[in-house]
Amino acid sequence: MKVRESGMPEAGLWHTFFDPEAILGAMGLTGNVRDAVDFGCGYGTFAIPAAKRIQGTLHGFDIDPAMIKASRRLAEQENAHNVRLHLRDFVTEGTGLDAASVDYVMLFNILHTEDPLRLLREASRILLPGGYVGAIHWNYDPETPRGPPMAMRPRPEDCRRWIEEAGFLIEKEHIHLPSYHYGVLARKKHV
Ligand SMILES: C[S@@+](CC[C@H](N)C(=O)[O-])C[C@H]1O[C@@H](n2cnc3c(N)ncnc32)[C@H](O)[C@@H]1O
Repeated sequence: MKVRESGMPEAGLWHTFFDPEAILGAMGLTGNVRDAVDFGCGYGTFAIPAAKRIQGTLHGFDIDPAMIKASRRLAEQENAHNVRLHLRDFVTEGTGLDAASVDYVMLFNILHTEDPLRLLREASRILLPGGYVGAIHWNYDPETPRGPPMAMRPRPEDCRRWIEEAGFLIEKEHIHLPSYHYGVLARKKHV
């Protein structure tokens, strides 16, 4: 089931909204991360630069074949050989990745989904203890040039509450990601 309001504008326009390197750095996607997962990789805007930062494999998931194709093209252009792309509906099927197998889950511009806890619980399942979940979203501001309708756009405090409900420990509760985004970073508890 495709997440509501998750269609993408044309790639050139989408890429004007972000500074992916600055955002990935601020969200802790560094060379210390081994394997990472991007839920809804879209054009690969963040997945491919993330792949170039991490030690292991970047798993990118998307329901839209055109997005998987675009991400694959970008990975090839960028010589990112550690990318595995999965054409899959993570809402109804999950990721299919092993439990406790990855270090970082990216939930970028996707938590306006109908059931954010479902995604966060799947993120928790696949993360190693101490692993990170990073969520970014459009500022809660009707003036942003894009983003879900305000009625379904999460506020930072919504993201934090869902993340905590899914059992994570908040590490950074509000990361400013100019020009139009904010981030929340959390860790899976050690048992
Ligand atoms: C708003 S875009 C964000 C793309 C990327 N995370 C970014 O920030 O550039 C959301 C993406 O999630 C994908 N998507 C929506 N519902 C999905 C589902 N149920 N399973 C897998 N991918 C999904 C869409 O096709 C789209 O590419």
